[in-house]
Amino acid sequence: MSLTEQIRKIIGFEQEAAPTPRGKILAVAARKGGVGKTTTTVNLAVAMARYHGLDVLMVDMDGQGHVAEALSAVVRDQGGASLSDVMLSSGREVRRVDDLMDIVVQTSEPRLWATPSDKGLAVTEGIMAGMIGREFLLRNVMRKAAARFDVIIFDCPPNVGNLTLNAMVASSHVLVPCDMSILSMAAVGDIIGVIDTVNEQLGHDLEVLGVLPVRVDRRNGKLTDQILKELSDNWGERLLSSRIPANSSLARAQVSGVSVFDFDSRSAGARAYRNLAAEVLGRMGFRGVDAPAGRKFQKS
Ligand SMILES: Nc1ncnc2c1ncn2[C@@H]1O[C@H](COP(=O)(O)OP(=O)(O)O)[C@@H](O)[C@H]1O
Ligand SMILES: [Mg+2]
Repeated sequence: MSLTEQIRKIIGFEQEAAPTPRGKILAVAARKGGVGKTTTTVNLAVAMARYHGLDVLMVDMDGQGHVAEALSAVVRDQGGASLSDVMLSSGREVRRVDDLMDIVVQTSEPRLWATPSDKGLAVTEGIMAGMIGREFLLRNVMRKAAARFDVIIFDCPPNVGNLTLNAMVASSHVLVPCDMSILSMAAVGDIIGVIDTVNEQLGHDLEVLGVLPVRVDRRNGKLTDQILKELSDNWGERLLSSRIPANSSLARAQVSGVSVFDFDSRSAGARAYRNLAAEVLGRMGFRGVDAPAGRKFQKS
């Protein structure tokens, strides 16, 4: 082994060894809290698993643990290894866990898996800051998981720190939820700027899957129309045609710890997330979006 290779091994600088699997890994990210990232992650993941027959993994990158809370009935923290353990294992000599696959937990939804919530992620983010190759830690530990699942979805924290950057570098696509406020609209520009920087500086080819309007409320007609027009003018085809309405079933489902499909499958929120799943899968390059539940998609 050459000296360079030895140094790379010691510091865990392995990014060339782990190319991003194409077209199946989605980061749900926004530079703002409360815009529907977790609601979107959970309901999109359930829709893909239940109505499209795909095996889906949700990865909670936010230390607040809201993914597990949103599906409280189905995600059990088994007290074992955490996402932090896996990410920080990169480059270590003795590895207790070295792939996302080692920590996934099956949910009560037959085709849906999740990583347990990890309250230590904030501390981990600080540790990462001192590591060389820190943006690649996650990408380096998901080979087995990427081979096992049809789709992997990262629910990102509401800022652009090392956790969000790790999710982006490990992803093929980013979905950006935007609620109907001026602040959220500005935050869309920020996050797309970060994606451009990741691509230029880190040699990645991350795609903006789309900007998703959420909490669209007709009672605020004028402001809503104005924001939708601005989003369309600014982002053109990147603006998805799906709209997530302001719908109390979505909030109540989250509090009850179930998906919106289990809470009220006929609600406007449930219909919207079913439509979104089909649109997202189409944009990610899956064929046969209308395949009946239970039948496998073909990845083109
Ligand atoms: N479309 C919606 N209509 C009504 N309430 C929503 C909607 N989307 C999200 N919520 C609620 O808003 C709050 C924040 O949503 P959440 O998905 O947790 O945001 P984030 O993950 O971006 O912080 C939650 O209480 C959630 O139930
Ligand atoms: Mg959240």
